[in-house]
Amino acid sequence: MLKEVTATRYITPLREGGSLPGLVEADDLGTYVMKFTGAGQGRKTLIAEVVCGELAGRLGFRTPGLVALWLDPVLGLGEPEQQVQELLRSSGGTNLGMDFLSGALGYDPLAFPVNPEEAGRIIWFDALVNNVDRSWRNPNLLVHQGELWLIDHGATMIWHHNWSSAEAAAARPYDASDHALARFAPDVAAAAAELAPLVTEDLLAEVTAEIPDAWLADEPGFDTADDLRRAYARPLLARAASVHQRITGIGTNGTNGTNGTEEGK
Ligand SMILES: Nc1ncnc2c1ncn2[C@@H]1O[C@H](COP(=O)(O)OP(=O)(O)OP(=O)(O)O)[C@@H](O)[C@H]1O
Ligand SMILES: [Mg+2]
Repeated sequence: MLKEVTATRYITPLREGGSLPGLVEADDLGTYVMKFTGAGQGRKTLIAEVVCGELAGRLGFRTPGLVALWLDPVLGLGEPEQQVQELLRSSGGTNLGMDFLSGALGYDPLAFPVNPEEAGRIIWFDALVNNVDRSWRNPNLLVHQGELWLIDHGATMIWHHNWSSAEAAAARPYDASDHALARFAPDVAAAAAELAPLVTEDLLAEVTAEIPDAWLADEPGFDTADDLRRAYARPLLARAASVHQRITGIGTNGTNGTNGTEEGK
């Protein structure tokens, strides 16, 4: 289970995020970007953040550390903005916190070239978890201390919205034609050779064990939280071995768009 801390002060909303994430201080004196269970996207977005963030970290990607962030809704009472007040009021209990990367800048592909190895590793990872939210329009990558960091894994594993068809959905291709790093001749074969063998049943059990129980309760079709954890692990295990062969839209010579089909949508 993620480390648990308690929010002590709401500092400010982060205006860039569609889900209105906020900056908060916690009782361990850390500063966190907080994502709320009461946001429109709901708790599945937060589960996706945990599964992908914890998996990415274990595969060697730079991504902010995560905590389970307890919120007492009274923290919202003093908020002047109604939207923020409502969000805090509807998010009592366990929310998600991620280490705040102070001074990080949004990634701009024109200003920060990435080598084919790193581009390949990130695209391979996004294909594995079916991330549809790392386009050049909205890269969800930050540059922090001269390095690329992965953030915002809420729009991944689309199959968790319909478990009955998860197996079929997990076998689908991944369209990378709009990916923020498609232009950098991504070497996804090398990435697969390095990373796929690391994605084992044991590793995925470790990753899914980090999901807070509170977000796994009452999912139709599942008796226990651990059954649901296994359902999160299965498609990832199945995809890891061969997903690199089903990445479309990056072309064979590394230029993007030459093989851009709609299959992955
Ligand atoms: N750990 C972090 N450290 C510093 N800044 C961050 C961090 N996480 C997010 N941000 C900033 O907040 C913005 C919104 O975060 P994020 O993309 O995770 O939220 P979202 O609501 O899911 O956004 P989206 O609009 O992409 O759906 C980011 O673009 C970035 O500027
Ligand atoms: Mg985002």
